[in-house]
Amino acid sequence: MKFRRNGGRRGADTGPAASRNGGPDLRTVGLRTVDLPATALPATDLGATDLGATDLGTADPRTRTYTADPRTRMRQPGPGSGRRTPAVELAGVTKTYPGDVRALDEVSLVVERGTFLAVMGPSGSGKSTLMHCAAGLDSPTAGRAFIDGTEIGTLNETRRTELRRKSVGFIFQSYNLVPSLSVEDNIMLPLRLAGRSPDREWVRGLVERVGLADRLTRRPAELSGGQQQRAAIARALAARPAVVFADEPTGALDLRTGREVLALLRDLVDGLGQTVVMVTHDPAAAARADLAKVMADGRVVDTRVKPTAGELATCVTALETE
Ligand SMILES: Nc1ncnc2c1ncn2[C@@H]1O[C@H](COP(=O)(O)OP(=O)(O)OP(=O)(O)O)[C@@H](O)[C@H]1O
Ligand SMILES: [Mg+2]
Repeated sequence: MKFRRNGGRRGADTGPAASRNGGPDLRTVGLRTVDLPATALPATDLGATDLGATDLGTADPRTRTYTADPRTRMRQPGPGSGRRTPAVELAGVTKTYPGDVRALDEVSLVVERGTFLAVMGPSGSGKSTLMHCAAGLDSPTAGRAFIDGTEIGTLNETRRTELRRKSVGFIFQSYNLVPSLSVEDNIMLPLRLAGRSPDREWVRGLVERVGLADRLTRRPAELSGGQQQRAAIARALAARPAVVFADEPTGALDLRTGREVLALLRDLVDGLGQTVVMVTHDPAAAARADLAKVMADGRVVDTRVKPTAGELATCVTALETE
């Protein structure tokens, strides 16, 4: 089945044709009721202790129904207004912690839609803090952060959670699938937590794209590490987020499987126009990105377009030995 870039009608009827493509009948994707009490989903099940714990683990029945709220739209033009809205934008973002720790120091960056950005840098350089501020998980001490044109700082906690559910996907190093749920139910989880109807055509295409169409009924423990990460990638994309943040997505995988996952991320950017921001320590992984930002001491100290693994390794090694 060909999957069109940005294709798919919302709520399209999959019809019987869905089972005529040789693969399993995926008509039930998004239709089956999952026995999923919100309270049965501790944040740690998804490993969301520092990324979206409130998004994924504490679904409140009062916030389960997503409705577009004008208050979550951009209130004032961001620095990027006047051109196509970037997926992510940081403008002079500073994050300090007690003890004079300057985790981010006036960072400004734009992640255009359909871009694969890698963030590199020595340990403690501010990569995770940057990701947390960009994803609306953490509040900057100063500066402005935008997701898909919405300034995060203008939203209250409920609206911020809704924005994350609607516009942000997360991929973790340790996959963080819910062990008791099938692959299919894991993939549908963010949509269910958000109380949103799945775009079944999109999810079906996604499942085929990540190569898990014949594994949907399996439990995570019955999959290889690479397959689990591919399920996690499908989960991150299920809600068609404006941006996917990946934190060391190949960190737990062997070299070959890691390459396959990177190829998949690349394919999602090239084929579906997805925006991906990936934190990595691996220059070879970062070399799959369109752009690499190198951080040191809370600042972006280098930006490389179409980076090579060699130049990134040299750059990061020099910073680590400074
Ligand atoms: N909650 C916090 N309280 C105090 N300091 C913090 C906190 N979170 C991060 N820091 C500090 O901010 C700086 C940047 O941390 P961050 O986690 O962003 O680094 P990183 O580049 O992701 O490192 P690594 O590669 O080791 O994951 C570090 O000096 C860190 O100790
Ligand atoms: Mg980190």
